[in-house]
Amino acid sequence: MGQFGMVKDFFLGISRSRISLIGSMIVTVTTPFLLAYMLADTIWHIKNPYFGAAVYLALGPIFLGGLTMIFVGAFFFRGERDVHLFTLQYLRRYFTEPDMFGRLRRNVFLIVLLTSVNFAVFSMFLYRAYHYMESTQFCGQFCHTVMAPEHTAYENSPHSRVSCVECHIGSGADWFVKSKISGARARQLIAVATATYPTPIQTPVHGLRPARDTCEECHRPELFHGDKLKVTRRFLPDEKNSTVHDILLMKIGSAGDRTQSSHGIHWHVAPENKITYRATEHNRMVIPEVTLTKADGTTTVFRTSDADELLAETGTDGDMREMDCIDCHNRPSHIYLQPDDAIDRMLAEGDIPQKLPYIKQQALEFITADYETSEAARQTITDGLSLWYREKYPELIADNPKLLARAIEGVVKAYSDNVFPEMKVTWGTYVNHINHGPDFDIGCFRCHDDMHESPEGKTISADCNTCHTLLAIEEKNPQILKTLQGEAL
Ligand code: HEC
Ligand code: HEC
Ligand code: HEC
Ligand code: HEC
Ligand code: HEC
Repeated sequence: MGQFGMVKDFFLGISRSRISLIGSMIVTVTTPFLLAYMLADTIWHIKNPYFGAAVYLALGPIFLGGLTMIFVGAFFFRGERDVHLFTLQYLRRYFTEPDMFGRLRRNVFLIVLLTSVNFAVFSMFLYRAYHYMESTQFCGQFCHTVMAPEHTAYENSPHSRVSCVECHIGSGADWFVKSKISGARARQLIAVATATYPTPIQTPVHGLRPARDTCEECHRPELFHGDKLKVTRRFLPDEKNSTVHDILLMKIGSAGDRTQSSHGIHWHVAPENKITYRATEHNRMVIPEVTLTKADGTTTVFRTSDADELLAETGTDGDMREMDCIDCHNRPSHIYLQPDDAIDRMLAEGDIPQKLPYIKQQALEFITADYETSEAARQTITDGLSLWYREKYPELIADNPKLLARAIEGVVKAYSDNVFPEMKVTWGTYVNHINHGPDFDIGCFRCHDDMHESPEGKTISADCNTCHTLLAIEEKNPQILKTLQGEAL
């Protein structure tokens, strides 16, 4: 044994074991790719989910496997000549015989260097891989078809710069919570691989973190104050696609700050008000019983007249939930529009030209039809609209072919942003509780229907002025708008 006894023994051990040799070949081949990719990812934040998957989910584990093989080989599969590598006697000799210990001391530098290089690559890998698993690309795009609806709706939402984990895990999450969620993610990966995921993906989400830990990292309803004016442009299904306005003053209110007591819509999430409810089903759509507990401990129970039967029938008698942001804002980021809203938004933004006669009416007809696949929808919408306009408005289309082309593109987008036949997500599959209406979601009216009554005969109000003041509904030239825009009188 020369100068570098222990190190030499180590390499000897490797070279004598076939397993170690294969392992070191694997490590040698994968390390440059791994390092180069991780470096590039650190600098440029690579967005392609498949590169990430190839590196972090395939190449990385292969590298780790190679590393393990080297050690396993050197320890257990020593070749023809026994090199005594790292057996207990071997180590004891090294540390007790002064001669050998002196040599070891001289090798320490090399050993430390090798170990720290390995350790650095290894921890950098773990760190990057962990971030990759938390990235929007991984969550939203890797399982492309499965997450297409959520990812598309997310991209179109005000939260498209907030990463998936910020709502689905939250930054304050401790390791226990995180590992539980990682476990769930592993199960989800398996479900994707074996195509056993449900279509559509079920909602509400099991074990979503309480809104206090996620939404309230960024939003503080206790500091909200005043009302919010909401002006929405809508379009009628007539020849001119006439513009009308909805103008609402939303009584957003406050969860109660230092000077004001809680009031209005965010009164529900004030610390002094605790609202719990029982629903008949997991989807939380039918709520027969609501309990309000005030800070002074007094409780009021509001029940529908058929609450006993409903709750007994469905057997969820003990299933209570405390109301938080998600009971109203269940679609802060995965916002699926209703057909009418989807077309109106395209028209308002000019993606569908308002100049094209009857486009609102025609678009609605085409996007609400049933299609087997997204591709079939695109084809039928394109062909159908072309045919209709060539028949009804031949000159207009001949003079201005771009008008129709743009409209078709907009209509297809209105459809494909909201309907995903492959995942069985269609209009109304995912309801939005910030709303109310007979057609789709009853939202606030799950409780606010004047039918939930306390023993004293008080009800949860459905009075139209509880939540908003209706300043104009589908009005062509509302006076209030002129006033707001300074053109009045
Ligand atoms: C602003 C917060 C927020 C962000 C960001 C977010 N989500 Fe969600 N997500 C929610 C809420 C809230 C729900 C519905 C919870 C409920 O009703 O129980 C939900 C539901 C889901 C569901 C269940 C199906 C559904 O639509 O209800 C999936 C799947 C999902 N999210 C995936 C993602 C992915 C992937 C990303 C990133 C591309 C993401 N989420 C980003 C808040 C968020
Ligand atoms: C990481 C920070 C962050 C988190 C977490 C977050 N939001 Fe937001 N949210 C924002 C920002 C920033 C905006 C403003 C976006 C804009 O105006 O374009 C916003 C906007 C909103 C709006 C107004 C949307 C509109 O149409 O004007 C609502 C409502 C909202 N968030 C609710 C929620 C709820 C509910 C949650 C929890 C499920 C949540 N947010 C989590 C940052 C966050
Ligand atoms: C009782 C239902 C309800 C609850 C509970 C609720 N909100 Fe809201 N929130 C609303 C409504 C309704 C609006 C107005 C939406 C609109 O018309 O734009 C709103 C508006 C907002 C806005 C936009 C404010 C603005 O000025 O544009 C934010 C941000 C928000 N909520 C965050 C939260 C957070 C965070 C929580 C939980 C702590 C929460 N909300 C709980 C119903 C609710
Ligand atoms: C789970 C049941 C439930 C849901 C869902 C619900 N609320 Fe309420 N809300 C209540 C209860 C209970 C009260 C208090 C009734 C009372 O004491 O008179 C209340 C009171 C209110 C108040 C009056 C607050 C005050 O100043 O005293 C407003 C405004 C309001 N809700 C708006 C909304 C809006 C908007 C939605 C839908 C986005 C909604 N609520 C959804 C249960 C609910
Ligand atoms: C418990 C609260 C609440 C009550 C009570 C209530 N609304 Fe609403 N209303 C809302 C919320 C929340 C929205 C959605 C606002 C948004 O789109 O951001 C809404 C939206 C509307 C809209 C649609 C506006 C638009 O542009 O989409 C109309 C119309 C409307 N309400 C009429 C009524 C009438 C009429 C009544 C009385 C029968 C009533 N509302 C009672 C909470 C309420």
